[in-house]
Amino acid sequence: MTSPFDLTGTTAVVTGASRGIGFAMALALAEAGADIIGVSSSMPSAGSAVEDAVRGAGKQFDGYAVDLADRAAVVDLGTALAARAPDILVNNAGTIARTPAIDHPVDDWDRVLEVNLTSQFVLTQLVARPMLARGRGKVIFTASLLSFQGGINVPGYTAAKSGIAGLTKALANEWAALGVNVNAIAPGYIATDNTSALRADPARSAAILERIPAGRWGDAADLGGAVVFLASSAADYVHGAVIPVDGGWLGR
Ligand SMILES: NC(=O)c1ccc[n+]([C@@H]2O[C@H](COP(=O)([O-])OP(=O)(O)OC[C@H]3O[C@@H](n4cnc5c(N)ncnc54)[C@H](OP(=O)(O)O)[C@@H]3O)[C@@H](O)[C@H]2O)c1
Repeated sequence: MTSPFDLTGTTAVVTGASRGIGFAMALALAEAGADIIGVSSSMPSAGSAVEDAVRGAGKQFDGYAVDLADRAAVVDLGTALAARAPDILVNNAGTIARTPAIDHPVDDWDRVLEVNLTSQFVLTQLVARPMLARGRGKVIFTASLLSFQGGINVPGYTAAKSGIAGLTKALANEWAALGVNVNAIAPGYIATDNTSALRADPARSAAILERIPAGRWGDAADLGGAVVFLASSAADYVHGAVIPVDGGWLGR
């Protein structure tokens, strides 16, 4: 019997696939059977580490280098991807700017909102259109604990990630009856480049670790199970959910 988690025959777009969580998600989706289209600002069209990993899992890989802060480039990307009619879109790429709110540069605010929220809406509109036309598709966002909490020194990031939680529910309300699932994964504190500044600060690092019930920082690979689940037919009745994968952080 075929597993409900089997993604054989599907194609998944993963943004931010060059490293960190996106890399791990791309590999997990490939190991579940999906071919991968990987996007990031520095993604080579061939020869990336994530391509090696995906091909090592026996699946196809195409890379697109696109700066998601460039609205016109995002529209071009979305148009090109829509023509390929992928089954799964993982909006994972993200950036962060850490400065106390009172001095937070508005340019940083604008860039973070553009990459972490607006570009994802624009890309999703374009890629979801063929999904809606055929009545099948999976859209998955990478949210954050800061979709639920305020954070410290990252007002733009928190605003964007709180927006992602709202957008997930807004799109799900419109598209659930049309066969397209829209959900999000909220990672906890995961050891990637995104959190290197926190881990380099001994006091912040210790305070964060002390509060995580699982007693460890997350690894990017910890996100693999949730993304495969949400991309699969096992999640066909899951709509508008923001699923924490956080070592228990939100439960405290
Ligand atoms: N790490 C955590 O604890 C944590 C927690 C909650 C949520 N998240 C979220 O998880 C997602 C992945 O983060 P991560 O921890 O894996 O961070 P990361 O290691 O810094 O990776 C970020 C990824 O996003 C891509 N990216 C950044 N800016 C981009 C742009 N302007 N255009 C295109 N691609 C861009 C990067 O591409 P290049 O390599 O080409 O620059 C890279 O592939 C983000 O949305 C982040 O907010 C992370």
